[in-house]
Amino acid sequence: MARHLEFDVLVIGSGAAGLTLALNLPATLLIAVLSKGELAHGSTYWAQGGVAAVLDEGDTVEAHVQDTLVAGAGLCDEAAVRFTVEHSREAMQWLIDQGVPFTREQDGAKGGLGFHLTREGGHSHRRIIHAADATGMAIFDTLLRTAEGRPNIQLLSQRVAVDLITTEKLGRQGTRCLGAYVLDRTSDQVDTLHARFTVLATGGASKAYLYSTNQDSASGDGIAMAWRAGCSVANLEFNQFHPTCLYHPHARSFLITEALRGEGAVLRLPDGERFMPRFDPRADLAPRDVVARAIDHEMKRLGIDCVFLDISHKPADFVQEHFPTVYRRCLELGIDITRDPIPVVPAAHYTCGGVRVDEHGRSDLAGLYAIGETSCTGLHGANRMASNSLLECFVYARSAALDIQAQEAEIAMPRDLPDWDASQVTDSDEDVVIAHNWDELRRFMWDYVGIVRTSKRLVRARHRIRLLMDEIDEFYSNYRVSRDLIELRNLAQVAELIIESALARQESRGLHFTLDYPQLASTARDTILVPRTDAARSEA
Ligand code: FAD
Ligand code: SIN
Repeated sequence: MARHLEFDVLVIGSGAAGLTLALNLPATLLIAVLSKGELAHGSTYWAQGGVAAVLDEGDTVEAHVQDTLVAGAGLCDEAAVRFTVEHSREAMQWLIDQGVPFTREQDGAKGGLGFHLTREGGHSHRRIIHAADATGMAIFDTLLRTAEGRPNIQLLSQRVAVDLITTEKLGRQGTRCLGAYVLDRTSDQVDTLHARFTVLATGGASKAYLYSTNQDSASGDGIAMAWRAGCSVANLEFNQFHPTCLYHPHARSFLITEALRGEGAVLRLPDGERFMPRFDPRADLAPRDVVARAIDHEMKRLGIDCVFLDISHKPADFVQEHFPTVYRRCLELGIDITRDPIPVVPAAHYTCGGVRVDEHGRSDLAGLYAIGETSCTGLHGANRMASNSLLECFVYARSAALDIQAQEAEIAMPRDLPDWDASQVTDSDEDVVIAHNWDELRRFMWDYVGIVRTSKRLVRARHRIRLLMDEIDEFYSNYRVSRDLIELRNLAQVAELIIESALARQESRGLHFTLDYPQLASTARDTILVPRTDAARSEA
């Protein structure tokens, strides 16, 4: 039997953003934190490098701000950058207070609160606090343990949010989010979750691409749900491709952290030539868009399947101590990184755009927040600097929690919400359609909307996505919802938004590179898509 459940705050997503928000709300509020699979099944758990923050005595807020603005290629919202960086130290202190076991400096407490800080591309200082090369796991485990000890927080795995419930969809007065319909995979029923506040913390949409460092859950559900609920989205053409994903038939999606290059690893061609100095004076530590494009260029020029990342010149014990996860995983596959170069390729890694929000994570719709990778705060501009995304999760989750706390006394629980209507649908006997469409979408997104774009390829992709969306809509209207169908529908919606955003940007900036408009436009403008009109419009 489908149920009606009431929560003060419904948090859709159990990664860094969702858990941080839940833990920063008062214990008097009843909170649900959903995950569509196991609680660990987001990007957070897999984060390797660390979190960027101004902790070292020699570092400054201004330096971190400037590095972020440079990486963002003129499109960052400077106020959002300052807001994030200024709150970085207190956000890290909060994590340390929760007990996250960050790696300590070996020679006793110095700068960086006594923790070891590493470097990554685009950063002018050592400012990445980390737990060896498994930072996400250390953070996730700590936050989850703390949340499990809070009686007011219900951690609900195997729950897939299908769509948001809004006053407008119900034909009621006002514009407010009232909760969500959620598929409970343990009972196969769609429950109605009433919520005074709803928070999208659903992560990114990198699974729109054939090759990705992300888990299957990264299907852009929050972005698609917000769009269908009437919220605007921004800058979705900026898909970040991480330069170094392990290239091995048995290890799709395994990242080789940028911190390796921060500690001296260099990229080489199969004949051993270092090629990055030919592309950028910052060589292997240039921002990711530059490195990913250089690799793509060399792979196409030479017709090779991968390039190689080499850290074999460093002492073996240093490599094993700093990168135990990468070392172990590669060794399982027969690659000893203390001696052998690592085969790597670029792969879709991070969604810079998302649901447009303010500095409290508020979307266009009252009662609906978006935090973490699903949001677009303005921090990343046209290219996210390494390790700024986890920082954004913590800073905006804490800010959203304060905002909810300040308003909650005035907001009543939504009542009389209708049941999910499953009266017109039957069980599907054609799941092959879902698998086929999923593969087709990810392949043409990779080929036509990838690292190097052209208008012709984008128009081709637009044509394909419209055909696919028609087919998926028909399927969705006739068959009972499943996790795969919900994800495919959302992925197709977000793919369409990515393509429309890419077509709207007639210049090359940051992560968006098109052969038809190779120059930078003189003015930097966000690409903002607004639902209902379906029209892209740009704003200064
Ligand atoms: P996620 O951690 O992705 O969590 C999303 C949650 O939403 C999951 O619980 C998922 O189940 C849930 N969800 C999604 N849709 C639904 C739905 N419909 N219904 C219910 N639940 C749903 N960034 C850094 O700053 N530093 C790093 O070192 C770093 N390393 C990375 C390494 C890898 C391999 C990857 C993939 C990313 C890395 N990133 C890193 C990026 C960073 O990890 C992510 O941006 C960040 O963890 C996103 O956190 P989040 O809370 O927004 O979402
Ligand atoms: C990495 O460790 O290379 C990933 C860091 C990030 O995505 O910010």
